[in-house]
Amino acid sequence: MRLNKIKDKNAVVELTNGVQLPVIGFGTACMRSEGCKNAVGEAVKSGYRLIDTAAQYKNEEPVGKAAAESDIPRSKLFINSKLWNEDHGYENTMRAFEETLRWTGLEYLDSYLIHWPNPKPLRNMGFEEHNAASWKAMEELYRAGKIKAIGVSNFLPHHLNALIRHAEIKPMINQICLYPGNIQKETVAYCREHHIVLQAYSPLGAGKLLAHPVILGLSKKYGCTPAQICIRWHLQSGFIPLPKSADPARIRTNMDVFDMVLSDEDMGLLSSLDVNIKLLPNPDEADF
Ligand code: A2P
Repeated sequence: MRLNKIKDKNAVVELTNGVQLPVIGFGTACMRSEGCKNAVGEAVKSGYRLIDTAAQYKNEEPVGKAAAESDIPRSKLFINSKLWNEDHGYENTMRAFEETLRWTGLEYLDSYLIHWPNPKPLRNMGFEEHNAASWKAMEELYRAGKIKAIGVSNFLPHHLNALIRHAEIKPMINQICLYPGNIQKETVAYCREHHIVLQAYSPLGAGKLLAHPVILGLSKKYGCTPAQICIRWHLQSGFIPLPKSADPARIRTNMDVFDMVLSDEDMGLLSSLDVNIKLLPNPDEADF
């Protein structure tokens, strides 16, 4: 999937089940309460249709309120949430999903992802079994029409392989940490081979990339902001970026990336960018 020909913020990609996913979304990690509601409201006004939340972010309620108070019909929004670590297993997943519906005030989710493949408290059981049990619940919820698409987040190829061994329905999305210089080659190749769409969280390297000299140079060359350079790199790489901002002007400009195209040479430069940012631990070793 190459998105450099996409010229329009309403563009979508099709998941394996035919569900249409907007090519850019709004991230909400670390946003809470009114601030979150206002930011999501601004994002929807600016044209974002995909909104990403999670039980772990503790902001499903303001995300749901912002969606309900927007002028956009529910069917035109794509709302994603995630199952947190303490809720793995069949029964727990069913309960956690109902709680997510209650917090968001929604009747269905557009997508629901297992947030983390190998939570520390369950690590001695092995990740394969509890992910398989959670996945069985998610497959049932999907078949019942309560979730339009199911997927995972932070899964590496060995986690995906194990999940697919037990799955009747393959994951449709893997949301991972991607940004220029952090291209997770093996996971990206695995997902492409299995037609799993890649969503990119921290697409701006949590904002830390925006002062990088190469990105600053490209922003001058293309006459745009450093954030737009990063977002455009995601689109042209075939990733669905989920940039976050609490600032209305930035929310708008981060979406205004459809009248520029980065050259192949500059795409290569960004992919191999030398960056020294460590945002996340290895999912098999994290302390949570
Ligand atoms: P702010 O909320 O003040 O705009 P990521 O999406 O990679 O996690 O990055 C999020 C961080 O990047 C936030 O700190 C956000 O700060 C900052 N950010 C988002 N968009 C822009 C932008 N256009 N210019 C500068 N900083 C930005």
